[in-house]
Amino acid sequence: MNPGQFFASSRVLIVAGKGGVGKTTASATLALAAARTGLSVLLVEVAGRSATAPMFGADAPGYEESVVYDEADHGSVRCRSITPDDALVEWLTNHGFSRIAKRMARSGLLEIVATATPGIKDLLVLGRIKALESEGVADLIIVDAPAAGHAIQFLQAPVGVRDTARTGVLNRQALEVLEMLDDPTRCRAMLVSIPEETPINELIETAFAVEDEVGLALGPVVINGILPRIEGLDAVEAPPDLTADEAADVQLAAALRRDRQSLQAEQLDRLETQLPLAQIRLPQLFTTEIGLPELIELADAAITSIESLDWS
Ligand SMILES: Nc1ncnc2c1ncn2[C@@H]1O[C@H](COP(=O)(O)OP(=O)(O)O)[C@@H](O)[C@H]1O
Ligand SMILES: [Mg+2]
Repeated sequence: MNPGQFFASSRVLIVAGKGGVGKTTASATLALAAARTGLSVLLVEVAGRSATAPMFGADAPGYEESVVYDEADHGSVRCRSITPDDALVEWLTNHGFSRIAKRMARSGLLEIVATATPGIKDLLVLGRIKALESEGVADLIIVDAPAAGHAIQFLQAPVGVRDTARTGVLNRQALEVLEMLDDPTRCRAMLVSIPEETPINELIETAFAVEDEVGLALGPVVINGILPRIEGLDAVEAPPDLTADEAADVQLAAALRRDRQSLQAEQLDRLETQLPLAQIRLPQLFTTEIGLPELIELADAAITSIESLDWS
């Protein structure tokens, strides 16, 4: 599939997955890949951290938005984070309560409201994302969602609030968010995992929960940390210039790598049979930190993967 078409098919991509599988890295990778097809991308972090900006080689932004990538002939990536407190202040400001908004946030009112209405914090964040989508602030908004268990809770918040607050502004806010989540041209979820048994099981569970319980359409899954194939790994004999000890070490290392690769391949096959979703595969990079050069490598891999997708 044409990557430009792929990234233009939904205005919001919610990237979710178990913690530690590379969800934030995948969000940044998809943002960069989309920008390289010419789109203006807004990358949103909701966990109250700013982990993506450094991957683009930029300073971490606060609540304010900052441009982290803007190349000639490409699109751009802006980063920002959204917290429930910020979302509440913005919501109040946009609804004519600007004078009291800051005071309310500072007074801890949000905590009181949040205790009375479960799900309201997540709803505020999703409501802010919906507002950004409606305003058309970017061609594509990519959201680095909370980790898996909480991702379902996060996405179910509008249903909960809609059913508790039967009328009024909260009810309307919930309905507006649900309308966005129900429309695949506006919003899709992309789940991230690594090719290992437990994370793949959780991915499959989360996928069914997202579709059945939240009614959110799923895009392709992102499988991160794929071991690159090594030339000559299957050689029976070690190179002739090695001592016997060195040759034994090399063969042991090769055997370990072959084992891990075949375990990964098994999990990828299993995923293919148990979850009928296309896969975007990202390689395991052997670096201590992801910076812009690494992110470009991952984005190129994502684009190659998308080009070979048969997905609509
Ligand atoms: N494909 C990859 N190659 C190398 N390192 C990676 C890759 N994906 C993620 N990492 C590293 O793994 C760690 C966890 O990734 P992160 O994206 O923060 O995970 P999550 O958001 O799911 O908790 C980070 O240190 C990140 O740099
Ligand atoms: Mg993260």
